[in-house]
Amino acid sequence: MFEQGKVSPIIPIKLQPSIKADVALYLLRLDLTDEYVSGNKWFKLKYNLNDALLLKRKSVLSFGGAFSNHIHALAWAGKKLGIKTVGVIRGEPEYASNPTLTDAARWGMELLFVSRSEYRKRNEIEFVEALKRQFDDPLIIPEGGSNHLAVKGASEIVTKSMLDQYGFNHIVLPCGTGGTLAGVAVSQPEVSVLGVPVLKGAEFLVSDIQELMSGARCSDPGNWSLDYSGHCGGYGKTSKELIDFIEQFHCDHNVSLDQIYTGKMMMRLFQLIENGAFSKGSKILAIHTGGLQGLRSLSTS
Ligand SMILES: Cc1ncc(COP(=O)(O)O)c(C=O)c1O
Repeated sequence: MFEQGKVSPIIPIKLQPSIKADVALYLLRLDLTDEYVSGNKWFKLKYNLNDALLLKRKSVLSFGGAFSNHIHALAWAGKKLGIKTVGVIRGEPEYASNPTLTDAARWGMELLFVSRSEYRKRNEIEFVEALKRQFDDPLIIPEGGSNHLAVKGASEIVTKSMLDQYGFNHIVLPCGTGGTLAGVAVSQPEVSVLGVPVLKGAEFLVSDIQELMSGARCSDPGNWSLDYSGHCGGYGKTSKELIDFIEQFHCDHNVSLDQIYTGKMMMRLFQLIENGAFSKGSKILAIHTGGLQGLRSLSTS
């Protein structure tokens, strides 16, 4: 079985006295779950990998960008479980020397680099069938790991006992494909869940999230929404404001945030709190979804 490393603590985040809002903010430290399969990755991969073991699949194949947290986590999990992994990577083979893919290759992942136009075919039947033939019929996990089994795993991120203990009425998390939000929202229908997409023009995520929920045979509790203003220019884009925020957050709270997901989510959450978007007395749980390995891309991009 693919078992979780450690229990993730919840820590209070003290807001600056200049922020007048009367709300309480806490952070669920999923980044501390496992040294390498950290954050939401462990939850999204858990049932996919257990299926691979159960079905005695020889290998698992998935897709990602050159700095993908998902590819990095999958490679490590594959090594731990003794399952061969294949990563179909968008971009040129030169990326193989970046820290993310160096780790992945060191942990035994076979890397296949494809052009951006080929990568766009990743959900097309013919393309997938060709990959299956090339790699001896691997179990295929979609980009970012988001499928019905990921939703099932993500539904275990926030537990009822966490809500009972702290009385949270809001949960906030970053969104890429929306799989994590889908799982969290269906598991806690009484709580408002806010997702901060890290890509520009992410309105399509609404229907993607609804599809992910129905694929997992869950009805949409209607307790979630998306805030489209936290992307800082688009996926992978950073700004001086974001980098300064991440540094300041580390100084104030001794917690590292990454620049792709958690930094953007937390910066936007602070803005929303300052702008009075949460009513007096709100208890907010932000989710640190990990991704800290991606910080290493800052020095090479
Ligand atoms: C660190 C981190 N946080 C958040 C997300 C977004 O998760 P999802 O794609 O399930 O929305 C990802 C991507 O999977 C991620 O790597």
